[in-house]
Amino acid sequence: MKFLPALCRSLLIVLMGLSSQVWAADKTDKADNSEAPPSATVRGARTFMYRCSVCHGLHGDGKSDLANILKPPPANLTISKLTIAQKRQIVTEGGAAVGRSPNMPVWKLELSPQEIEDVVQYVQTLNPNNNTDK
Ligand code: HEC
Repeated sequence: MKFLPALCRSLLIVLMGLSSQVWAADKTDKADNSEAPPSATVRGARTFMYRCSVCHGLHGDGKSDLANILKPPPANLTISKLTIAQKRQIVTEGGAAVGRSPNMPVWKLELSPQEIEDVVQYVQTLNPNNNTDK
């Protein structure tokens, strides 16, 4: 029975090949998992793009198609003087709740408190001279 050692050897080679592939896959998984999760402003930027830019413009400067229709127009967020708390409030409760235009939606109906916090942090980055009062 000479073929047995030969069979064992080829089996061994196949197994080694497989295990190195598994090891390589494992390594890639680890690399993926070790990537830092997106920061608040990165998450906020994503929410802004999907939910806010339609009115406030992609750059938050109030330049959008809807700005030509809505009266008053959506605010230019790059010059907003609101404090973080005021931004949080108008985003959460909507314009009408703070005596502003009802066309600014009530975002607590759509977004989680975390999503609101992230988007407010992102809006803070839009104005280089933002009001940093909490
Ligand atoms: C349907 C249009 C619309 C959408 C969508 C919208 N807004 Fe507004 N927003 C407005 C309007 C209109 C105003 C101005 C209200 C006024 O002047 O009375 C406003 C005002 C604001 C203000 C007040 C700024 C200031 O300095 O006075 C903030 C902050 C704001 N929006 C943030 C957001 C964020 C963040 C989102 C997305 C989660 C968003 N808005 C989505 C229409 C919109």
